[in-house]
Parts: sequence; structure tokens; C-alpha cells
Amino acid sequence: MTVRTVIAGTGSYLPEKILTNADLEKMVDTTDEWIVSRSGIRERRVAAPEQATSDLATEAARKALDMAGSSAADLDLIIVATLSPDHFFPSTAGLVQRNLGAFKAAAFDLEAACTGFIYALSIGDAFIRMGSYENILIIGAEVLTRFINWEDRSTCVLFGDGAGAAILRREEGGERGVLSTHLHCDGRLAELLYAPGGVSRIPPSHEMIDQKLNTVRMQGNEIFKIAVTKLREVVEETLEKNGLTEEDIDFLVPHQANLRIIQATAKRLNLPMEKVVVTVDRHGNTSAASVPLALDDAVRAGRIKSGDRVLLEAFGGGLTWGAALVRW
Ligand code: UT7
Repeated sequence: MTVRTVIAGTGSYLPEKILTNADLEKMVDTTDEWIVSRSGIRERRVAAPEQATSDLATEAARKALDMAGSSAADLDLIIVATLSPDHFFPSTAGLVQRNLGAFKAAAFDLEAACTGFIYALSIGDAFIRMGSYENILIIGAEVLTRFINWEDRSTCVLFGDGAGAAILRREEGGERGVLSTHLHCDGRLAELLYAPGGVSRIPPSHEMIDQKLNTVRMQGNEIFKIAVTKLREVVEETLEKNGLTEEDIDFLVPHQANLRIIQATAKRLNLPMEKVVVTVDRHGNTSAASVPLALDDAVRAGRIKSGDRVLLEAFGGGLTWGAALVRW
């Protein structure tokens, strides 16, 4: 009998503090009009000083476990996709394991920037179909606002904090579950979106901090063009692999970096925007948290129906990109 990976539950967490475009107008030379027209972002969340990535991740995980009707004690594996971990080491996933009391679970972090959740879904699906594990918690969580240069208007208006989680469960027979996943990377383009310092290449130093080398650098315009092209390619790859056409896709859960990029992918799929989840206006770009936050938003709103073919996609630093097709 076919073994499939089903998404048995989703959950998300957003910090309470909201930073609006009007707030940013007071901090850097920008306008609400510029931010909304170029990116679609209206506000983003900022973690409280005492909150770290594992705290956001744990909250999202609890909600996903609750929806799945699962207990933390049943988890076999926890994967946290993040580029803003609590510590250099140990892993944020281990801290989530401790917070949840999920002591049977193996745990590790995964770094594929904004594509991290798609990578985590792909790895979790492989472990389940191989027969290694039956219950897996995957999380995308970020406190990106700690790695932003708040004097750089080209990046500081874009990013936000949050976490989203999903419970993956083994199911035999049946139609629903992960149909395929598609992962890509082009390391030649790594420096188009990165934080140059703070780890082994340029270790922490007073000079490194003075130059803000531990903060996000992005060549937004270049990234924009590559993102639209690569997302179109990975959508085509996914359709071809499954022998499907655009008409067979019922719902799109895209990475939330820019409304114009989301609209381009929706257009490629001939999907009206009612069939596309958009949270970028409220969340900004939350990197690895963006897809699971958007997924949970659509699931809890009842927008994704049983039997729907749901396409998840993301693009980000690495450069990485990927997609997953899930029968709900
Ligand atoms: O999540 C991972 C992947 N990331 C992405 O997918 C992001 C992809 N890129 C983007 O979303 C867009 O490129 C941005 C939203 C980042 C920027 O939009 P854009 O239309 O590509 O603008 P631009 O970078 O070409 O900048 C246009 C102008 C520049 O001025 P000049 O040189 O034309 O005079 C910038 O200096 O806008 C200026 N600018 C701003 N003006 C007001 C840049 N940032 C701001 C700002 N407020 N915050």
C-alpha cells in the first residue's frame, strides 16, 4: 500500500508588537506609498526583547500539535528551518524539543533561508516514506528583526518575525498527502542576499559590529527578477512531475516576500487571487516562517478544502528555491 505523508495539523505564532509603515516613516527616509506599491507590505511583527526564535517556534508547534490531536511525546523528529537561531549552537530544534517535552524526538536545524520550510517538508516526507519515522514536527521560525540594519531603508522595511509549524504523519493508502517536492540552489548567487559577518568568514569583532556586517544585505532588484523566473520554472517542474496542468491546482501558498512576485506566480497558474493566500501585507517577509504562517492562515480560515491540490513555493537566500504539491 502506498505510504504518504499527510499534514495532520498546522499552527503559527506572531509576536504582539506591530511595526507599521507609518512607524518606519519616522525611522528612515521612506513612505507608506513606496513600501506598499513596491512590496505590498503594510505592517510586520517584532519579537519582544525576551523572545528568541525557539520561543516563537514552540508556540506555533503547540498549536499544530493541538490541531493534529497529537502529543509531543509521540514525535519522532523535530526540524526547525531558520536563519536566525537562538544560538550559534546547539540547535533551536533541540530547545523546542525541551520546551515541548518531546524527548523521544531527534532534532536538528536546517538552513535554506526563505526556502527552509519547503526543504523541511521534503526531508520530513522522505523520512516518513522511507519508514524511518511516523510523526514529524516541522517548523519555520525567525526573529529576523535582530539581523536588520535599521538605517538601511532598502531592507529594514521588508522583514518581520514569526513562526509556523506543521505536523507530518504517516498514512497508508488514501489519496491525500505530499505528492512531490522540488528543491533547488544556486550557490554562485549567494552574495545577492546574505549577512556577511558574525560567523567563521568574518568572526564577531567590534569592527564587524561597527560596520553592521552581521545584518542582511540584499540586491532586491536582481533577486526580484531571478525569483519570478525560478518560481515559474519550479511550478512547471511540479506540474510536469505530477502529469498535471494549471487547471489542476486549487490553491497557492507562496513565500511572502513581495505581492508582485506572488501575483506573477498566480498568473502563471491562471489562479484568481481568491485561490492564493496573501499575508505579506500583515507579516512582511518572515523568511522560513513565511510559508507555514501563510498555510496556517488559510487552513484556519477554512479556505483550503479536503481534496484540494495545494502548491507551496518559496525563494530566498542561497540562492534557494523550491515547491511542494500536497493533496489536502
Ligand atoms: O525573501 C527572499 C527573497 N527576496 C525577495 O524576493 C525580494 C525581491 N525584491 C523585491 O521585493 C524588490 O526588489 C524590493 C521591494 C526589495 C525593491 O523594489 P524595487 O522595485 O526592486 O526597487 P529598487 O530596489 O529598484 O529601488 C528603486 C528606488 C531606488 O531609488 P533610485 O536609485 O531609483 O533613485 C531606491 O533607492 O527606490 C529606492 N528605495 C526606497 N525608497 C523609499 C529603496 N528602498 C526604499 C524605501 N523607501 N524603503
